[in-house]
Amino acid sequence: EKGGWSSFMAKEISEEPEAVANTLIGRTADGAVHLEELAPLGDEVLAGIDRIVVIACGTAAYAGMLAKYAVESWSRIPVDVELSHEFRYRSPVITERTLVISISQSGETMDTLMAVKFARESGAKVLSVCNTQGSSIPRESDAVLYTHAGPEVAVASTKAFVAQVAALYLVGLHLATVRGTLDAKAIARNVRQLHDIPEKLAKTIESANRLRELAHWMADTQSVLFLGRNVGYPIAMEGALKLKELAYIHAEGFAAGELKHGPIALIEPGQVVFVIVPSPRDKLSLHPKVVSNIQEIRARGARVIAIAEQGDAAVHPYADEVIPIPLAAPLFEPILAVAPLHIFAMELAAAKGLDVDQPRNLAKSVTVE
Ligand code: F6R
Repeated sequence: EKGGWSSFMAKEISEEPEAVANTLIGRTADGAVHLEELAPLGDEVLAGIDRIVVIACGTAAYAGMLAKYAVESWSRIPVDVELSHEFRYRSPVITERTLVISISQSGETMDTLMAVKFARESGAKVLSVCNTQGSSIPRESDAVLYTHAGPEVAVASTKAFVAQVAALYLVGLHLATVRGTLDAKAIARNVRQLHDIPEKLAKTIESANRLRELAHWMADTQSVLFLGRNVGYPIAMEGALKLKELAYIHAEGFAAGELKHGPIALIEPGQVVFVIVPSPRDKLSLHPKVVSNIQEIRARGARVIAIAEQGDAAVHPYADEVIPIPLAAPLFEPILAVAPLHIFAMELAAAKGLDVDQPRNLAKSVTVE
């Protein structure tokens, strides 16, 4: 079943472009978004919601964190992302105008299932983004939007993550349509960006081969830090989680802006730091801020591996390695930037002789709370 691949994880990373493409199929036409799956929620209800709460665990929660930037920007609805097990055991403010969106690859994660039941009992409508037909979470939800990533066998979630982001971006564009917060041209522009992702992701995966060598060189590394800002922040978190779970290395993801509020104290000569660099074309002007973060950590001896837009000349003088990603609109770049981090975690685990499909202590579906 692995085909010619060394592991299911290697195969599934190679399927990331397809997972996005398949998740988009039949859901857009003529530059507009059509999500029949959302009909049970009712467009009037969607037009009236005043808050979205995303509930998920692990990698699925990082997909939610990333989607927050797009959904808020497009629909102007505030989005909170909560870990299912934290949401469930307190007294969250939920009204009939709250839309809860659960995200789960397996559809069986007990923490998320319990949180979905709790949200509905509290009066919220629940939309679930799920990759597994016939699983438990969809059965407990008001509406389901399936990701079409195909079965994911490796314990670490990879192709499901990019499919989840694509599905959530469609939801964001649907909400912007029913609420009139984006005009048809802007929707069409974003739909085009989404459809361009598979090809760009395939290119990114090709050019990330260099990481294989790097991972071998780094097999003895004890700690790796990941910095990202804005949409790069959830990607930094995801990169760190993958390294922990697969290579058993201490890894932390930080918001780059936090560096000077504490984490910079960790930087000593030889510390490896991945930096997800925002596009230099970003209207928010975050690029120079992150480049200056890179200079600060380099001055303290860090080894910097930058994931940056191809042609970003400002990064090269300061980074030890640059992994290029094709040009995309800023909200879409992180969907490309995540693949090199998946590859790196897999290759480092392989370099250490570990089982990348079945990391120790972990199960594919966590069916206990
Ligand atoms: C990390 C990973 C886990 C899952 C989490 C949620 O690589 O695979 O963090 O993302 O356990 O699982 P699902 O999406 O099945 O609810």
